[in-house]
Amino acid sequence: MNSESTVYDLGCGRGRAAFLFHFLTGAKVVAIDLVGPFIVTARRLAKWMGCDQHVLFCYENFLNSDIEKADIVYACALCLSQETREALASRLQGCRDGTYLVSVGWNPNKPWLHSLESFSTSFSWGEAPVYLKQIRFNEAPLDE
Ligand SMILES: C[S@@+](CC[C@H](N)C(=O)[O-])C[C@H]1O[C@@H](n2cnc3c(N)ncnc32)[C@H](O)[C@@H]1O
Repeated sequence: MNSESTVYDLGCGRGRAAFLFHFLTGAKVVAIDLVGPFIVTARRLAKWMGCDQHVLFCYENFLNSDIEKADIVYACALCLSQETREALASRLQGCRDGTYLVSVGWNPNKPWLHSLESFSTSFSWGEAPVYLKQIRFNEAPLDE
């Protein structure tokens, strides 16, 4: 992730991770959540911090979002239902080949999702596993 990257934060809440990504790396972030008050608060914070041109908050269901422009998709999936996870995994097929996926608390398994790394790390709410993957539609999966 760097200043050339476009990161999609799916289920961004009030933007905690989205702001971190931008301020740590300079990445442009498109952050999506379907809870209106979260988006209102996040937009206010972005304006207050002067990053509202770089961290864009969208009030929508990420299952309907066009994520084709993403270089990196971040999904903190701990609280997502199995059904939403499955729908999201299918949705990822709308990404470009080579797009990276960072998922927290969920290890999606698709033949075109290549595992790069996984580790456990601390969040404000406690410890959670993180899975780094890359979308490669035209390659056989690596041994996991
Ligand atoms: C665990 S919280 C994410 C917290 C946030 N990423 C952070 O770092 O503080 C999950 C979020 O996903 C959102 N969410 C769940 N399903 C969604 C959907 N289909 N479309 C958009 N947002 C969704 C919830 O509203 C919630 O804010």
